[in-house]
Amino acid sequence: MYGRLKGYVETIRRKTDLVPRAAIVLGSGLGAYGEQIEAEAEIPYSELEGFPVSTVAGHKGRFLFGTAQGVPVVLMQGRVHYYEGYDMQEVVLPARLMGMLGAQILVLTNAAGGINTSFHPGDLMLLTDHISSFVPSPLRGANIDELGPRFPDMSHVYSPALADKLRTAADAAGVDLKEGVYAQLSGPNYETPAEIRMLRALGADAVGMSTVCEAMAARHMGMEVCGISCITNMAAGILDQPLDHREVQETADRVKEKFEGLVTQFLREI
Ligand code: HPA
Repeated sequence: MYGRLKGYVETIRRKTDLVPRAAIVLGSGLGAYGEQIEAEAEIPYSELEGFPVSTVAGHKGRFLFGTAQGVPVVLMQGRVHYYEGYDMQEVVLPARLMGMLGAQILVLTNAAGGINTSFHPGDLMLLTDHISSFVPSPLRGANIDELGPRFPDMSHVYSPALADKLRTAADAAGVDLKEGVYAQLSGPNYETPAEIRMLRALGADAVGMSTVCEAMAARHMGMEVCGISCITNMAAGILDQPLDHREVQETADRVKEKFEGLVTQFLREI
């Protein structure tokens, strides 16, 4: 795996020498943020041999290198998910790669179902912690010693300093930023109402099918991580209506500008 990662670093370095300070993973429906940056290089995942490619509608599948608010950044437009059939090691490969390209900060975004009943579809939630226990760890298997330790501490996966910067950014951007714990489940099916009650009892405020594994892999290699969920729908059983991927996309689309305003302001803060 480490050799493969180094190979991808070399391939990318032939196309751009930009060293990103921050890496931003754009979740379902949030990919349009790519238009906000001064792009310098675009690398479709398909140009990287053997690279995991997303099969989900609404996910573009490329890295964008450029500058945003004066900060050198790499954006991932589209990510792969565990439910697509990839092993966790493949799912987190792009996050690790961006770390190896120099990114010290990882901003993870996603679409999520709201479990906390004080949330509303369209809210943005700062991740303060996560529950990973329902999916395999991306760190399972031989440890990549070059990246980090065998038994990494996960006490502060989401950097308190970056969380503060997101709060300040939200104030400046006029965004009412919620906060909470995100649980990753494998998907691709949505949860049952009983599963949502269980997750609430366990302390989760939002549920989704991504992010936690990438956060763990990034933390393992010492990156500073922060996360923002777009609450696209209330989780199963809360409202008397079925869950639908279209609702997820429509809500993400509706709050696109709020999300972009928050990220733009955040980049000014860091
Ligand atoms: N559950 C899991 N993943 C999701 C949801 C949900 O309700 N909404 C968006 N992603």
